[in-house]
Amino acid sequence: MSKGTFYITTPIYYPSANLHIGHTYCTVATDVMARYKRMRGFDVMFLTGTDEHGLKIEEKARDAGITPQQFVDHVVAGIKDLWKLMNISYDRFIRTTDDYHVSSIQRIFKMMYDKGDIYKGSYRGLYCTPCESFWTESQLVDGKCPDCGREVKYAEEEAYFFRASKYADRVRELLKTTDFLQPASRVNEMINNFLDCEGGLQDLCVSRTTFKWGIPVDFDPGHVVYVWLDALFNYMTALGYCNDAHHDLEKFWPADVHFVGKEIVRFHSIYWPAFLMSLDLPLPKKVYGHGWLLLDGGKMSKSFGNVVDPVLLAQRYGVDALRYFLLREFPFGSDGNFSNEALIARINADLANDLGNLISRSAAMMEKYFDGVIPEAREAGPEDEALLAMAKALPGLYEEQMEKYAFQQALQEVFKVLSRANKYIDETAPWVLAKDPEKKARLASVLYNLLETERICVTLLKPFIPDSAEKFRVMLGVAEDRFCWDDALRWGVLPAGTKVSKGENVFPRIDMQKELALLESIHETKQAKEAAPEKKPESPAEGLISIGDFQKVELRVAKVLACEPVKKSDKLLCLQLDAGGEQRQVVSGIHSWYQPENLIGKKVLLVSNLTPAKLRGVESRGMILAATVGDRAQVVFVDDAIPEGSKLS
Ligand code: ME8
Repeated sequence: MSKGTFYITTPIYYPSANLHIGHTYCTVATDVMARYKRMRGFDVMFLTGTDEHGLKIEEKARDAGITPQQFVDHVVAGIKDLWKLMNISYDRFIRTTDDYHVSSIQRIFKMMYDKGDIYKGSYRGLYCTPCESFWTESQLVDGKCPDCGREVKYAEEEAYFFRASKYADRVRELLKTTDFLQPASRVNEMINNFLDCEGGLQDLCVSRTTFKWGIPVDFDPGHVVYVWLDALFNYMTALGYCNDAHHDLEKFWPADVHFVGKEIVRFHSIYWPAFLMSLDLPLPKKVYGHGWLLLDGGKMSKSFGNVVDPVLLAQRYGVDALRYFLLREFPFGSDGNFSNEALIARINADLANDLGNLISRSAAMMEKYFDGVIPEAREAGPEDEALLAMAKALPGLYEEQMEKYAFQQALQEVFKVLSRANKYIDETAPWVLAKDPEKKARLASVLYNLLETERICVTLLKPFIPDSAEKFRVMLGVAEDRFCWDDALRWGVLPAGTKVSKGENVFPRIDMQKELALLESIHETKQAKEAAPEKKPESPAEGLISIGDFQKVELRVAKVLACEPVKKSDKLLCLQLDAGGEQRQVVSGIHSWYQPENLIGKKVLLVSNLTPAKLRGVESRGMILAATVGDRAQVVFVDDAIPEGSKLS
């Protein structure tokens, strides 16, 4: 039976570039909470999506020579792939370019206008282009944008304003007297900087005329709705507010919690409630402002280019290892410094050793001493009490932390018990008991206590490491329907006769030095590649090449004879080419955009005198040419009439 509903959201991300580990962090945290609540019996709505309008996207698309819609469609496809890879169990994905959202926002804007809460005026002030925000002099930090630290410039435009000032007192009250905004440490900052600052809360400029890529104000062409008004209402339009696309508003609104990064707490804790107050709508129950993942002490940012690629890490170490690391290493409410070293150390110490090794040792002993079948006869011993007490108390302690979104502490509680179980093995020395036939029942009891403790721990780890927890479930022989919260509260669930098996190594140990060196070299190659097109020649002559330089490159037309994906790689395709009487094997990183069958028979351009290289162990002799269009590579195909082997000059 459902315990009620639970509605949780991530911010909707800007599809201005591929997402990085910071976005993954917030989405994984939301996913863990959604999975935890589902395990607790709640009817969960987990919403995520993309915030697709604004000048930045319009400019990026222009640079790429495509329309903004084409640009976002491509990036959004990548975002969905990332969430699939990370095993994100969202229930709904909203795009602010979805028709129903666009028309809902137009209605919402008009309702606020009709009410007099949106009025037309003109704006003179300091504008930060990347953040699309106007600032007053006093809000600037060192003369720069307080959000991103970049230069601002004077700007003036006719615009619509939202009467935020009218709601300042109610918002202050909300922040001061309730636990709406968490962690509580963020409350004073909001009040002091935005409500009790000089001049108080200013009305908010909610339309733009300087670009087109936005939702048009339908009663005043030329104006588009400010991205934040457009974006914040996603949490309600996705449920069917002001549209017929969905019908869950009654069921799920108000949201239980919005998880957001600390830099957008201002929008969620001041303007969002004020917008809702204007329309007499119920407010979300909580906004939780989590900390940032920092890289070398600074913020990771798509536009600064100092980002960590979650795909690479998940592919190398496993999705669950990365999910676990993100929530175990950093306290959710504060900033934390990301490092590859911390990631590998955490995987080795906690997942490979404390958890994986403990379960495979217990299962191996079951196989060795009892043919893998839990026996009936058991005998308690003096070492049991401490372990049993901890295992039985664990769900309560875990729940207390999870309800506070204290993922790190919840995991610590679980791992305290796992460490205790490891200690219990040392105390009871099952290999000694095994030598004495008289102690068979005691040995059975020791192993049983370990299996039961592991069952409880793995059940509680399920929201964090879903796929690995499932593998452990099978190893421990836990029936699917007993792998649940209610049974985590019980001791003695595994019946005699249960078959336990050692299974595969779920979290293999990682060679720290080797991996760090490898990650470093991948990073350097990537940086060099990214930096290359940016290198501006210092003088025209330096940027030019001679005809002799060009002639060094041997370009030939080649026909694709065969093509298949490279094993263990999502990106690479291995192509067999006919380069004019000579067959060539070339590996190319285009699998994200091309399926093998669409390439076979096509003619491409081959750089045929490139030094051979091995990619994922597969030899590549040459390179095929592709154009960069936005974030994608588009292979240059050649007219079929040109024979294979023809040289280009
Ligand atoms: O702000 N560490 O989108 P966005 C932790 N579209 N979290 C990080 C992070 C980091 N280094 N970098 C990003 C927007 N995030 C708006 C939101 S909501 C109505 C509109 C996470 O693509 C963090 O949760 O810039 C942050 O709030 C979110 O990504 C912002 O993503």
